[in-house]
Amino acid sequence: MSKTTWWQKAVFYQIYPRSFADGNGDGIGDLDGMIAKLDYLKWLGVDAVWLSPHFPSPQVDCGYDISDYLSVAPEYGTMEKFQLFLDGLHLRGMRLILDLVLNHTSDQHPWFVESRSSRNHPKRDWYVWLPGKADGPPNDWFSTFGGSAWTFDVVSGEYYYHYFFKEQPDLNWHNPEVKAAMLDVVRYWCKLGVDGFRLDAVGTIYETPGYPNQGTGVTLNDNYREYRQATNKKETDAVTEKWKRMFRYQHDLPGIHDLMRELRTVIDEFPDKVLVGETDQLSFYGNGRDELHLNFNFPLMHTQRITPQWVRENQEGRLANLPPGAWPCNTLGNHDVGRMRSEFGDGENDERIGRVNLALILTLWGTPFLYNGEEIGMTNHLGIRPEQFRDPLSRNALDLELNLIGSKQEEAQKFALLTGRDKTRTPMQWSADPNAGFCPAEIEPWLPVQDNFSHGVNVHDQMNDPHSLLNFYQKMITLRKGFPALQEGVFEVIDQDNPYVFTFLRKTDTQTCLVALNMCAETKVTKVGDRSNFRSVFSTHHPIGKRIFQSVELLPFEILIGVHFEQQTTNL
Ligand code: NOJ
Ligand code: CA
Repeated sequence: MSKTTWWQKAVFYQIYPRSFADGNGDGIGDLDGMIAKLDYLKWLGVDAVWLSPHFPSPQVDCGYDISDYLSVAPEYGTMEKFQLFLDGLHLRGMRLILDLVLNHTSDQHPWFVESRSSRNHPKRDWYVWLPGKADGPPNDWFSTFGGSAWTFDVVSGEYYYHYFFKEQPDLNWHNPEVKAAMLDVVRYWCKLGVDGFRLDAVGTIYETPGYPNQGTGVTLNDNYREYRQATNKKETDAVTEKWKRMFRYQHDLPGIHDLMRELRTVIDEFPDKVLVGETDQLSFYGNGRDELHLNFNFPLMHTQRITPQWVRENQEGRLANLPPGAWPCNTLGNHDVGRMRSEFGDGENDERIGRVNLALILTLWGTPFLYNGEEIGMTNHLGIRPEQFRDPLSRNALDLELNLIGSKQEEAQKFALLTGRDKTRTPMQWSADPNAGFCPAEIEPWLPVQDNFSHGVNVHDQMNDPHSLLNFYQKMITLRKGFPALQEGVFEVIDQDNPYVFTFLRKTDTQTCLVALNMCAETKVTKVGDRSNFRSVFSTHHPIGKRIFQSVELLPFEILIGVHFEQQTTNL
C-alpha cells in the first residue's frame, strides 16, 4: 500500500476562469465553458484543478479583489453551475482546489464598505486604519503594485493599508472576528466538497507592529529606473535587494505561522484536503505536518534558461532545507509570470525546450502544477494594444515608461506588456476558428486572442496530430501515472557535474526509474554508472526497451526514462 496521498501524486492544472472556456459566447470564460471541457481535462490526464478566483469581484485585479467569498461571479455562472463543475470533476476522478484570498478583500466588499463608513462602526477594526502624519500617510511603506501602501479615506478621515492595489484593502488579521469569518469561508467551501485551497499572497497577511518607517529613502520610481538601467545580473540583483529592503516590514511576519497552524486544524476537520501556499518560503511547511501541505518552488523559474546546473542547485538548496515529511511542489508557469514557452525558450528550439521542461516538472520529486494553455505551447501575447490592457500593472508600467524613462511609444508598450500580466492571460486557443474557438467571431473576447492560434497553436489541431505538444503532454502525464517511482520515489541526482544533461533516479522500495534530460541542442553523453539492469521505457528519439549502459548518448533535447527491469515496472 502506498503511503502517499492524492495531492502528492496528482498533476494539478490551473484554470484561469476568465480565459479558459466561454460557454455562453459573451467573450468571457465561465462555468458552462469549464463544464464543457471536463472531458478534455480527463483526457489530458490531470488529477486536480486549481481554479483562480471565481467569486464576485469588480475585477480590478482580475478576480483577486473579492466582494463576496461565498458565491460565484455572475459572469461565470451560478452556485448550481459551480456545483455541476465540481461534481463533474469528482465523477471523473479529479479534484478541485479554490483560490483563497485571505490578505485583502475588494474595497466593494460589504465588510469594507461598512468599515470605512465611520470610525465608530463595529467593523472599523476589520481593516488596517491609521491616522496620517502631519505631512501625509502614517509611514513610508509602498504598495507592491505602485504608490503608497496607504490611501486616505475622505469620509472617515484616516488612511487604510493595502499591500496591493488601493481597491484591495488589507484585512486586520489581529481581529478575531476577521479570522472567524474567514475560517467560516473555508468551512463553507469544504462542506460543498472542494478539495482544498491555494493560498493567495499568504506571506502578506501580517505587518510589523508599530508600522516603523522602512527608511531606505528609495522610491518605487527610483527602483524602476535602476531596474531599467541595469545591464547585468549583478545590477538587477542589487535592485531586487533594495526592493526587498523597502518591503521588509510588510511580509512574512513570525505570527503567520500560528495562523497557518490554526488553518491547518480547520482543514483537518475535513478528510483529505490540501493547502498550497503562494510562497516560496519553506517555513510555511511548519514542522512538515502542521502548516501548509505544499509551497511552490518559485525559485526554479527565476532564470532565463533551465540548465542542469540550475536545477541541481535549486534542488539541493530546497530539498536540504525541507522539514521531515514535507512534500515539494514544482511549477514553471502561472497567471502572474510569462508563458513558460516564451520565458525559457531560446527562440530556435522553443518547442523542444518546452518538452524537456515539462518532462522535468513531471519527473522531479514533488507535485507538479501546470498552467492552462502551456500544453499547446501558448506564448506571451506582446501585441495587446494599450486600450486593450486589463491589468493595471500594464497601464502603470506604460505610464512609467513614457513619463519616467522617456521611452518611445513602441518600446514603452513592449515593456508595459512584459511588466504586466495580460500577456499570459489571453483566451485559451481551442481551434483554428475565429477567436480561436474561444467565443463567437463577432464577439470581442475580454483580452485579445494571440494570433498563432491559426498556425497550429490550438487544441483541435494538436489533438489530431500525434506528434503535437498537446499529445506529448498527454503522453507524459500518462507515463508518470504508470510509474509509482516517478510520483512518489526518493530523488537522487547522478552524473552531478554534467553541464548538458540532467540525470537522476527516483526510487521506491519496489521500483527505480532513471531520468536523463538533454537540455542542449547537441548530442551529449551522460555517465549513469552501472545500470545494466535498466532498460528504456520512454525516449523522445529512440525505440524503447533498450538496455542502459554506463554512458548513455542522448540526441539534442532527448528525454530518456529508464526503469530497473528486475523490479516491479509499471502499474499501467
Ligand atoms: C497573487 C496573485 O496570484 C496575483 O494575481 C494577485 O494580483 C495578487 N496575489 C494579489 O491578490
Ligand atoms: Ca461567458
